Amino acid sequence: MRAYTPETITDAVIEQMSSTTDPRLKEIMACAVRHLHAFAREVNLTPAEWIKGIEFMTKVGQMCTPARQEFILLSDTIGLSALVNIMHDKTKVEAATSASLLGPFFRENTPKFAPGEQIAKQADGAEIVLFGRIVSAKGEPLAGAQVTVWQTAADGRYDIQTDASTMDCRGIFSTDHEGNYLVRTVRPLGYYIPLDGPVGGLVQAQRRHGMRPAHIHFLISAPGYRELTTALYIAGDDHLEDDVVFGASGDLVAEIKAGDPACPISGLPSIRFDFSLSRESMADKLGGRVGADPGQITAGDVSTAKPYGGAPADMAAEAAGKKGILSGLFRSR
Ligand SMILES: [Fe+2]
Repeated sequence: MRAYTPETITDAVIEQMSSTTDPRLKEIMACAVRHLHAFAREVNLTPAEWIKGIEFMTKVGQMCTPARQEFILLSDTIGLSALVNIMHDKTKVEAATSASLLGPFFRENTPKFAPGEQIAKQADGAEIVLFGRIVSAKGEPLAGAQVTVWQTAADGRYDIQTDASTMDCRGIFSTDHEGNYLVRTVRPLGYYIPLDGPVGGLVQAQRRHGMRPAHIHFLISAPGYRELTTALYIAGDDHLEDDVVFGASGDLVAEIKAGDPACPISGLPSIRFDFSLSRESMADKLGGRVGADPGQITAGDVSTAKPYGGAPADMAAEAAGKKGILSGLFRSR
């Protein structure tokens, strides 16, 4: 019998897995084993550290519910989601608006709204308007494109974090014959990623601030065009440069302007942003999304899911002092 060494064990595992019939599964697992073994050798991983890692991943799994995806959060905070998103974005067949993370707060079966209708039905906050056009890479208007938006309420939390049985601050709009979309909402706030679970514990152990800059998510689709998952990041936010999930990028920063004469709803501050979509390739049909409705991954009754916990008091107080984070609360519309 051969005796394995730290150097020979890797090839032995890959050799045993070489009977895998699915070629992509074979490639991914062989590469994963090579990199995992190299990682263990590089850090000289001890048994105690190995079991700590197992315990951590177990807690991440146990934290997942139909309203919460702790694994997506883990992937987001170590930049893996951003990496997959950036690589995927480079495969578009035409130059178009860049993609951003779908994140762990997207929900399927979002209600439909008429153009200009307010999506914040329960949340309080300062009203803003989002408007612009959905166009092809050549600038042709895309009529009837579906524009899904979702964002935090003015307290910096998504509906799913406070009460998963209701939907608020999210909706689906359609473009008119000239490709125009028009959304009425409230100003989003920068927010802490959920810090009450194992991923939050890791982020705090790393002394990271744990915040995302204020943003509004968009998922835009039109027949024959590649689905665009993106977000607009609000200009002036303190965390545009150090987003805890590495999602913000300069070309997606948008300014909230007062009194823009082009805004179809007068008297309200507004963001004007045109999105362009690339034509869809065969590969796009299989590309998928970097994120999902948590309910698609963990089955169960979403309405009975527990609310997310808040940020630790000391972190919340520090951010409030720095950013005036609570100043968006309780402003009347
Ligand atoms: Fe978000």
